[in-house]
Amino acid sequence: MNADDRMVVTPWEVGGTIDYDRLLKEFGIQPFSELIDKVPDPMHLMRRGIIFGHRDYTRIVSAIKEKRNWAVMSGFMPSGLPHFGHKMTMDEIIWHQKAGGFAHVAVADMEAHAVRGMNWEKVKEVGKLYLKSIAALGLKPDGAILYFQSSSNFVKDLAFELSSEVNWSELKAIYGFSSETTLAKMFVTSVQAADILHPQLKEFGGPKPVIVPVGADQDPHLRLTRDLASRISTFAFEKIENGVRIRSRKGREYLRMLEKEIDCEYKSYTEHLDVFGDYNKIVEFVRGFEVEIGGFAFIPPSSTYHRFITGLTGGKMSSSKPESYISLFDSPDLAVKKVKRAITGGRGSAEEQKRLGGEPEACTVFELFSIHLIERDDELEEIKRRCKNGEQLCGQCKKLASQLVEEFLKDFQEKVKSVNLEDYEIIGI
Ligand code: TRP
Ligand code: SF4
Repeated sequence: MNADDRMVVTPWEVGGTIDYDRLLKEFGIQPFSELIDKVPDPMHLMRRGIIFGHRDYTRIVSAIKEKRNWAVMSGFMPSGLPHFGHKMTMDEIIWHQKAGGFAHVAVADMEAHAVRGMNWEKVKEVGKLYLKSIAALGLKPDGAILYFQSSSNFVKDLAFELSSEVNWSELKAIYGFSSETTLAKMFVTSVQAADILHPQLKEFGGPKPVIVPVGADQDPHLRLTRDLASRISTFAFEKIENGVRIRSRKGREYLRMLEKEIDCEYKSYTEHLDVFGDYNKIVEFVRGFEVEIGGFAFIPPSSTYHRFITGLTGGKMSSSKPESYISLFDSPDLAVKKVKRAITGGRGSAEEQKRLGGEPEACTVFELFSIHLIERDDELEEIKRRCKNGEQLCGQCKKLASQLVEEFLKDFQEKVKSVNLEDYEIIGI
């Protein structure tokens, strides 16, 4: 392995050869495969292992099945035009909205300004294209809020509140910040935590399960946010036999206040209460009480992680290399050219490929099929089989991919034209 191959995965840099098993272990993410069977009608990205990891997704599965109040939230930094990588996250948000979640979509204009130095007019303009894109892809106005970070006082106020729980050594440990890092870049980590937690504010209906679909590079934000969710809330819960042990992070007096409200069997100690009965019911009751007395009572957010898309030219996909990705706003002709030039898992010659078969696992065209272009599993499997047997040649695949990309972009760009953002609840246009 040469130095270039060293895996680096942080929110600001992704590089080297990605070893997903190692990523699961190092980040402490759970494999998605262990619960796919429990998900009602899983989307193609789940079925195909492109969503490979999760935190606490069982909470979302229960919320879907029990038709409870829950939300999906994710965000987009408008540093360049939306491309097929963003489409993946958009499709995930839309799938979760269809499954019953309320959708919150953030345009991370503060992040783009702080981290990429983009001016406000530009981030607004590009940000709108992201919102129009997710609308054109099928996000319904009913059950969705779209917003710009800089326009949401809920998010900005909460970010400030959360930032009082974060100190320098923690930021350094999680993000590798140095003495050169600007305060704004540090602060946008709290803004992102606020993006993720604000659907649980009482103004948005109070504590609820929230799923955050992201790429694995965003996991440091989720680790921090999950920690903050607990740290900033008053009561902490621990499962005990027959019930719940409840502690207060803000002083004993909260336990004494809570005690007066409890109408089932419990035992009172100086530093905790043991309440007996159904775990979920008790916790829900206590969270409701916390909100009543002005606390947050946040539930740690759940998350799913999708794989990084390989750039069409090989190596990583990068917004600074337009030939490495298909933008949702590329003309169909340009997109087809990019497909034609894409790196495949084919062999040096047709003869060799017929003899040895191709490698769909290492093929950017196959990746396009499985992530974006082919809905039916049997069709995809057939291409894989034919490729491996040497029955399919890359030219045929590229022809099909070009056709599908062209159709998709024509249809998408038509839809974008007829999107009216005013149909949506929007903070910040
Ligand atoms: N930081 C994310 C990115 O670079 C964008 C983002 C902002 C986000 N707020 C979020 C993602 C909240 C998930 C949840 O793409
Ligand atoms: Fe990829 Fe198709 Fe070539 Fe196989 S035949 S390597 S799937 S382009």
